[in-house]
Amino acid sequence: MSTNAFDPGLPDELPEGWPEIETLARLANEFFSAKPGETVPDAHTPASPEPANFDLNGDVPLGRSAPSPVALPGASELQALIDAIPFSPFAPPAAAPGTPASTGPSFYFMEQAGPGPVTPPPGAATPQASLHGFSGPFDVASIRRDFPILEERVNGRQLVWLDNAATTQKPRLVIDRLKYFYEHENSNIHRAAHELAARATDAYESARDKVRGFLNAGSSKEIVFVRGATEAINLVAQSWGRQHVGKDDEIIVSTLEHHANIVPWQQLATEKGAKLRVIPVDDSGQLLLDEYGKLLNSKTKLVAFTQVSNALGTITPAKQIIEAAHSAGAKVLLDGAQSVSHMAVNVQDLNPDWFVFSGHKVFGPTGIGVLYGKEALLSETQPWQGGGNMIQDVTFERTIYQPAPNKFEAGTGNIADAVGLGAAIDYVQSIGLDRISEYEHQLLLYATRFLQEIPGLRLIGTAKEKAGVLSFVVDGYRTEDIGSALNREGIAVRSGHHCAQPILRRFGVESSVRPSLALYNTCADIDALISALLRITSQRAFATQRT
Ligand code: ALA
Repeated sequence: MSTNAFDPGLPDELPEGWPEIETLARLANEFFSAKPGETVPDAHTPASPEPANFDLNGDVPLGRSAPSPVALPGASELQALIDAIPFSPFAPPAAAPGTPASTGPSFYFMEQAGPGPVTPPPGAATPQASLHGFSGPFDVASIRRDFPILEERVNGRQLVWLDNAATTQKPRLVIDRLKYFYEHENSNIHRAAHELAARATDAYESARDKVRGFLNAGSSKEIVFVRGATEAINLVAQSWGRQHVGKDDEIIVSTLEHHANIVPWQQLATEKGAKLRVIPVDDSGQLLLDEYGKLLNSKTKLVAFTQVSNALGTITPAKQIIEAAHSAGAKVLLDGAQSVSHMAVNVQDLNPDWFVFSGHKVFGPTGIGVLYGKEALLSETQPWQGGGNMIQDVTFERTIYQPAPNKFEAGTGNIADAVGLGAAIDYVQSIGLDRISEYEHQLLLYATRFLQEIPGLRLIGTAKEKAGVLSFVVDGYRTEDIGSALNREGIAVRSGHHCAQPILRRFGVESSVRPSLALYNTCADIDALISALLRITSQRAFATQRT
């Protein structure tokens, strides 16, 4: 192996029955010698003159090496590749021109004197321990150590978590932050009442400000806490939508949408007699902008679309779509559920009217999410739900609402999990979204390259711009059977329709197998997936040969 530029970490002597390791090593070499950004050839145009020669007749071992939180095979090569990319100096995102400098809220634990609560909880500091620095290498081994669940064993194997589009795992920082909240701060958020109320209020409002920074929103008044992206979209449909969409108006969505960005608009359209129109995709799964242009007209009230497809991974040209919608006089809702863990989002630059995401898809807790809305728009929009917290004054004749964001947060919110989301944001920002994006891009290329070598495998979604989703079907296999077989190997992927039936049907399938990546995944995870798929498909090939 010493002659290879890329050493996938194989032992010198391999047991009988291994696949053609030299072939894998050669493919890996080709992959790693590709220049960053170079297109990986598709399955029909292999980069090498010879087809890959996997040995399908043996008992293919699971992975070339077991995934491990340290000494991950391929990690150092990825590291070298990533280090070679000319990153700009890592610094927190600069505020867009015209952004008011945030003076930041003042918090009880920062106050030294003066009226109000000043005493930090005894012996406790808010969890900070596992924050990474903006500079330094992308240390995936160290990142993996931050996620305790990655040590789990499933069916006798170390867990390989490739279901990140469904939900992401939580770093210890988030877990500790939740524990800290319940041990030291838990209260409802009515600052003036008592010490713990002040702590809880400060923690909650601090999280709101972290979300503001994360999205580069102009003001934390533009950040509404909700249960998740689904609730955020329903909120807009049921508040702004019911007030502004009327008979014969048009709402544009795209074929890529998750059901959460279809059904609320369909319900609104049915109620109002409006029409839903759909941007089609090409055969790679990218939106057809020409067709989109033809859909826009003076009746278009809203364009609601995703920044990253959950089923295919397509990254849509969001800025262009938003500009075109605004030129036609329409408002725009951008669904960021699948983008926020993979790329930096700047709402002042992208300029959507609303942006939504779920905390649990960006290493935060479930049950907490965010609606960003432009301040003026939120101010003029009537609330959706009524109740406590969102009012200034109530009589039996009328109610005066709080200003945004509070008027959209009726009832006791998910205070602890909002605080947990704030910690998740601290975590990803300490690594840097640009670096996460570059790392995942290389993993995506690596996985794409090797998946294409699986006999009978068809990738669904091959757009040039993609974030870490690899949807596929394999000839002759039911997707659920592949999912179950992978689970038996300790590998978690989603198989099914991914709550995005229209886009799968566009590709002639009802379901797909969907491995999806996050910052803690490694080449070893991909190797485990590929080896398991080779084993699964070789068993059938074997059985067919024998009969
Ligand atoms: N929306 C989540 C997914 O894509 C549940 O799997």
